[in-house]
Amino acid sequence: MIHIVVFASGTGSNAINLISHFRQHPAIRVKAVFCNRPDAPVIQKARAEGVPVVVFDRQAFNAPAFVDTLKQHDAHWLVLAGFLWLVPPALIDAFPQRIINIHPALLPAYGGKGMFGHHVHQAVLAAREPKSGITIHLVDHRYDHGDTLFQVTCPVLPDDTADTLASRIHALEHRWFPEVVETCITRGVLHLKTQHAAQTL
Ligand code: GAR
Repeated sequence: MIHIVVFASGTGSNAINLISHFRQHPAIRVKAVFCNRPDAPVIQKARAEGVPVVVFDRQAFNAPAFVDTLKQHDAHWLVLAGFLWLVPPALIDAFPQRIINIHPALLPAYGGKGMFGHHVHQAVLAAREPKSGITIHLVDHRYDHGDTLFQVTCPVLPDDTADTLASRIHALEHRWFPEVVETCITRGVLHLKTQHAAQTL
């Protein structure tokens, strides 16, 4: 069995969607949810799904022993689903090309430190962009920066608010994230990167 550890900090709709998607999968399972906010709704939701939750603080996250904690959970892939801290180098080195993030905009635009959730959608609306979308990418040493694996767009409508745009983006995330993670694990990072490069030519 290949094990995913999902990192989430908030509501956790993507984390729960990943748990459901892989529940019946013959070879892949969400082994645990790691959460950095003790009051995050995702904690109760994941536990209700029977998935163990590990809550940690910034000191633990940046300590060398954090990799050991992940190895104790038999983690093979890390999937960030609404997780906002910069991933430390030791973690990136321990999971080379095996950390995936989702971002609610079309990177490289509207990414970077502080660009999360409604901040992203407000910036997209303020710039009067005709479209937005989601980016699923590998994690490297910079915020929202690693190789893009997948992007899909949606329109930004004239009467959109940050809320209406957020729900359109969430729908895209729920539709595509589990499938892209599955393809990445079963067919390889290179397969997705090549496909994405071909689409953007
Ligand atoms: C998602 O829209 C995800 O793309 C975003 O946080 C949301 C979490 O929603 N991530 C970022 O903004 C990362 N920069 P959820 O808790 O309902 O899954």
